[in-house]
Amino acid sequence: MGMTNDEQQFEGLIEGVLANGYAICDNFLEPNEVRNLLDIFSERYDAGKFKEAGIGKQSEVHKASLIRGDEILWLETDSINSAERVLLDKNLAFVKYLNKTCYLGIVDTEIHFAKYDIGKFYRRHRDTFQAQKGRILSVIYYLNTNWIPANGGNLIIYTQENNVEKMITIAPLAGRLVCFESEKLDHEVTEAFAERFSVTGWFLNK
Ligand code: OGA
Ligand code: MN
Repeated sequence: MGMTNDEQQFEGLIEGVLANGYAICDNFLEPNEVRNLLDIFSERYDAGKFKEAGIGKQSEVHKASLIRGDEILWLETDSINSAERVLLDKNLAFVKYLNKTCYLGIVDTEIHFAKYDIGKFYRRHRDTFQAQKGRILSVIYYLNTNWIPANGGNLIIYTQENNVEKMITIAPLAGRLVCFESEKLDHEVTEAFAERFSVTGWFLNK
């Protein structure tokens, strides 16, 4: 019995995470899915729904801007359109596959849109830096069509190889999914020289 295309993508991602702590899957989202997501993304952005991202307590957003400059909007399942539904369904299919094949015990997810304006970045960090216990896997869906290297805005993942730190540079290309172990890997977003669009999620075990 053959695997479906989705299952093959899930398998590739799992292999990568097990071997390296991170994995990349190109064309995880189809071009029309990216387009539809960008449409609703800009609609919500233009309606003023996004907020500057924090790094902890609400009162410290101004300090946060030295560390991260993205604006975010959490996806709430009670007010989503069909494009967002498609994304959440794919996201949940991945969760189900992980639970079935890897016994990860993922019980919940959280997910938000993120926009980096020109000049914005997210300094080196780990996704479990504070009261964010329970985050086991970080997943990021990129929505940037026609992205070129001069646009910067790369995700850099720091890994260890024989006790030597290694930087993995990943461009935020439309349709690409990146996932990595939230507790284990430092990473950063380098300064963006063009508007940068993505959806970031976490899989939680409590
Ligand atoms: C984050 C993050 C990376 C990216 O939102 O925590 O590290 O490439 N995002 O957008
Ligand atoms: Mn992060």
